Amino acid sequence: MLLKDKVALITGAGSGIGRASAIRFAQEGARVMVADVRTESAGNTAAEIASAGGTANSISVDVRIAADVERMVNETVRIFGRLDILFNNAGVYIPKTVVETSEEEWDWVVDVCLKGVFFGCKYAIPQMIKGGGGVIVNTASGAGIEGVPRLGAYQAAKGGVVIMSKGIALDFARDNIRCVSICPGVIETPIAENCNQIPAGASQQIWSRSGMMHPLGRNGKPEEVAALAAFLASDQAGFITGVAVPIDGGFNAGAWIPPELMRNS
Ligand SMILES: NC(=O)c1ccc[n+]([C@@H]2O[C@H](COP(=O)([O-])OP(=O)(O)OC[C@H]3O[C@@H](n4cnc5c(N)ncnc54)[C@H](O)[C@@H]3O)[C@@H](O)[C@H]2O)c1
Repeated sequence: MLLKDKVALITGAGSGIGRASAIRFAQEGARVMVADVRTESAGNTAAEIASAGGTANSISVDVRIAADVERMVNETVRIFGRLDILFNNAGVYIPKTVVETSEEEWDWVVDVCLKGVFFGCKYAIPQMIKGGGGVIVNTASGAGIEGVPRLGAYQAAKGGVVIMSKGIALDFARDNIRCVSICPGVIETPIAENCNQIPAGASQQIWSRSGMMHPLGRNGKPEEVAALAAFLASDQAGFITGVAVPIDGGFNAGAWIPPELMRNS
């Protein structure tokens, strides 16, 4: 087991990548604090882990609010005795250019995706130092390392996560804390519904089109991202820090030109 006896705190764990990661981390032997602004979803993930024989608690948190995040970290330490892994994963998006984006929309996306990561690190790192070290995995995005149309606020936030993770890796390396970010391509989760960008249950319609954006010709699965996060959070990745790891079916490899456009005939 990759994470035996580790204590892991995962935000946005009521859905999608965070939910799959909470389940995977527990399968790998971690005790997991499942955190989400959707209290019921967080509870459902924790219950699913417990019914499979794992150890999990859930907590309601709005990662935009400092006091909420501080309470989340303190509760994790109170219940499980320590904090080894923080997976800052909660995120939202709005598909708009900067011209179309209102100040309120900018604040929502940047506060959840970037300020929330800042708060998580701010309150978790002192606890990790007390415990002798730890690992921080931050969910950025392919849109944090490549230009993507119509993601003005989201790109800014995710690019910020990538570079902030590198700085944190340097600042706390000698405290035995590793910090990395992960950069998914399109992953099949309910994010578009959760962010009110499409009607509930309509995700399936967009998957077939977005799959073709990736050289591998398909979207990713939350379980594939969970497997990467579990590896990066584990001692197996003990010499990896400060990197932004794409998990994107080749999206980040370069300009994608469909093979039919490259044929001579
Ligand atoms: N799905 C993709 O294609 C994709 C691609 C690249 C990056 N990402 C990133 O992956 C992460 C997880 O996204 P997902 O696809 O699993 O989406 P999701 O909507 O399934 O899960 C995100 C979770 O974050 C929670 N959340 C939202 N605002 C919050 C807040 N203020 N406080 C606490 N929790 C909050 C939501 O309730 C939800 O449970 C996000 O950071 C997202 O930006 C997703």
